[in-house]
Amino acid sequence: GLDAARLVASRVLDVPDFPKPGVVFKDLMPLFADGAAFREVVDRIIAYHGPESFDAVVGMEARGFVVAAAIAYATGVGVVPVRKAGKLPRAVHSASYELEYGEATLEVHQDAFTAGHRVLVVDDVLATGGTAAATLELVERAGGTVAGFTVLLELGFLGGRERLAPRPVHALLTV
Ligand code: PRP
Ligand code: HPA
Repeated sequence: GLDAARLVASRVLDVPDFPKPGVVFKDLMPLFADGAAFREVVDRIIAYHGPESFDAVVGMEARGFVVAAAIAYATGVGVVPVRKAGKLPRAVHSASYELEYGEATLEVHQDAFTAGHRVLVVDDVLATGGTAAATLELVERAGGTVAGFTVLLELGFLGGRERLAPRPVHALLTV
């Protein structure tokens, strides 16, 4: 069968000096744009966690939305967005964090989950882990239970996995 790691590796582009000098940006748009490859990685994530292991999927703005919506549709659960500050219209929980190339605040609606909701969290890339740490915290503050966290691509040299420990991180490809 197809090797998920190779599939991701074959459809990521290295972009030097984006979004600022010194950062080599890993662009996963070619993977998203390839229908068969995208479906394969979505199916792999569902199979890894098990379709019965979660009641909702969270994706982080903006690229996480793409993956989260596909998993939610395929498994019949709902999708909940974690958004950058100021985008959600009702009462929110907020968490600030630092990025590889900046700083940001993420928010989730306070009523996003019912108690005991098991939440699968997905994003395209794990870099420093700031986005993921904030998101996992927000899921729990909003009453959810983190059922798992998966990314398509982990930038291992940025230490995100260590930052999130002891929470498990699943990555289809680690570079
Ligand atoms: C990127 C990526 C992750 C995050 C990873 O999103 O999609 O969400 O950064 O970085 P970290 O592990 O260092 O936090 P970005 O904030 O660039 O937003 P975008 O999806 O809207 O482009
Ligand atoms: N690619 C995509 N998203 C990212 C990166 C990257 O290299 N670094 C932090 N978020």
